Amino acid sequence: MKTQICIIGGGPSGLMLSQLLDRKGIETIVLEKHSREYVLGRIRAGVLEHGFAELMREAGCGARMDTEGEIHDGFEISDNGVLRRVDLKRHSGGSSVVVYGQTELTRDLYDARAAAGGHVIHNVEDVVLHDLNTEGKPWVTYRDGDEIVRIDCDYVIGADGFHGVSRKSIPADVLTEYEKLYPFGWLGVLSRTKPVNPELIYAKSDRGFALCSLRSQVLSRYYIQVPLSDKVEDWSDEAFWDELKARLPDEVAARLETGPSIEKSIAPLRSFVAEPMRWGSLFLAGDAAHIVPPTGARGLNSAASDIYYLYHAMMDHYLKGDDTGLEQYSQKALARVWKAQRFSWWMTSLLHRFPETPGYDQKLQETELAYLFSSDAALASLAENYVGLPF
Ligand code: PHB
Repeated sequence: MKTQICIIGGGPSGLMLSQLLDRKGIETIVLEKHSREYVLGRIRAGVLEHGFAELMREAGCGARMDTEGEIHDGFEISDNGVLRRVDLKRHSGGSSVVVYGQTELTRDLYDARAAAGGHVIHNVEDVVLHDLNTEGKPWVTYRDGDEIVRIDCDYVIGADGFHGVSRKSIPADVLTEYEKLYPFGWLGVLSRTKPVNPELIYAKSDRGFALCSLRSQVLSRYYIQVPLSDKVEDWSDEAFWDELKARLPDEVAARLETGPSIEKSIAPLRSFVAEPMRWGSLFLAGDAAHIVPPTGARGLNSAASDIYYLYHAMMDHYLKGDDTGLEQYSQKALARVWKAQRFSWWMTSLLHRFPETPGYDQKLQETELAYLFSSDAALASLAENYVGLPF
């Protein structure tokens, strides 16, 4: 097969880029390791920044998001039982976020690719990237049963996640990896219950962090901070609800609607960045190059800025013969990636219980929160990062 851009990974980043480029007449093939059902079964992020929502619209995929998604102008922070609101709209100068599940958004992108006759190939095995940094053009192979299929292309986009083959195709002496692991994870539960609050609640408590989020008015998503040693099997639904309530203000706990979990999983909290994000004709995007802890809702959103830069760089290359965007991709993408890293680290540090933290550091954490709510400048800094820094 032959195409202009071979995209490794059929998650939201890969599909979005494929969809955007297709509308400009630039050809792509998307290779995905898993089935469509598997990809759509993953419960992931739920908060989209303004710029991401705009990209969905530009991709021609914003209709359902605009009718079913919810616009949120703020969220609440609970500090040991006391609720305070962060007015995102006021402190960001008019911006807000859209609550719309990654699962739904991915479904919309799949539907759009299918409607446009796009090539999204599922269940591909043994993907290998070839000649990424030689004089010739790159090519990609994968296995389909007993057969090895070859795709010739101009560029390869590595949008295949943290465990994907793309980043691993860059020689170790070229790549620098920065990583920070947190000594806890988030236990998440999805339930068919009415959300406890119209807006998200980020709760700091002496028992650990908790988050009340939602996917719709009939679907709630809750999380609690747990030690890394905990297993999902250790947590019955009942134990989860009890612990969640214990971390929330009494009046919120009292109105929490509980029910059977329809998904329950533990995710460790990790920060990770790989540099550079380009090697020869390979460009990394999203989780393949960077991971954030979920506290600032940056994960999917920082993939979106990579896609925005790549989309514009590829348009400039194919439609104007200008390679500046391609040449500056890594540097530009990383500048924004590191800001998302900083914000996610800050919000994680602000709200979690760190085991064995010295008294001095606990006092600093309390002071950080007290300062936040005493300063419009501090709230503006939180708000501008949460709604998304400009691309
Ligand atoms: C979610 O709804 O899954 C969610 C929302 C906000 C976060 C993290 C996760 O910061």
